Amino acid sequence: MLKIGVLVSGGGTNLQAILDAMERGSIRDASIEVVVSNKTNAYALERAKKHGIPTRCISPKDYDSRQAFSEALSEALSAFQVDLIVLAGYLVILPEGIIRSYAGRIINIHPSLIPSFCGDGFYGLKVHEAALQRGVRVTGATVHFVDEGTDTGPILLQKAVEVRSGDTPQVLQRRVMEEAEWIILPKAIDLIAHGKVRVEDGKAILLEQ
Ligand code: GRF
Repeated sequence: MLKIGVLVSGGGTNLQAILDAMERGSIRDASIEVVVSNKTNAYALERAKKHGIPTRCISPKDYDSRQAFSEALSEALSAFQVDLIVLAGYLVILPEGIIRSYAGRIINIHPSLIPSFCGDGFYGLKVHEAALQRGVRVTGATVHFVDEGTDTGPILLQKAVEVRSGDTPQVLQRRVMEEAEWIILPKAIDLIAHGKVRVEDGKAILLEQ
């Protein structure tokens, strides 16, 4: 059974997609052991509580140093024996110590087709504003492994979404969530739970799907 820790900062629609996928059997042999947020008011925490999942609020602002924050987060993750960390709308830069301890065991959902519209400053609506500004005809979402960079780790899954004339950033964000994020994040977790993913030479290899 793959034990998952989900890190959130906002509404938690990606967390909800994981919960729903587990309930309908699209994700098997995996369980969410803890949901951790840096925001006490993140609605994602309410979603977790409704499912009886333990929650923790661990914010860098509550610690005197990055190191202290890193230790608190690391303690929470190991207390729940987390095997895989899932960043689902998590807006805090993970401490390097955690990235090293969980090398190859952290995934993130990013709302664009990496390497487009990613890296420092590209998060939430800003990603879609940039896509509309550039005039792309296609955008989408990416699940990637997390390394020391920002949105630079091996790409695991991607799904394209068309951009329609008249799209606002909000309308486009919602379409990318519905048609891409909420589909590929649960699928990525199920693949990992069944050992169907390997990382070699910086590339994610998908074994038979
Ligand atoms: C989404 O756009 C997601 O792609 C990004 O954070 C936003 C909020 O996600 N990573 P959620 O509703 O909190 O899951």
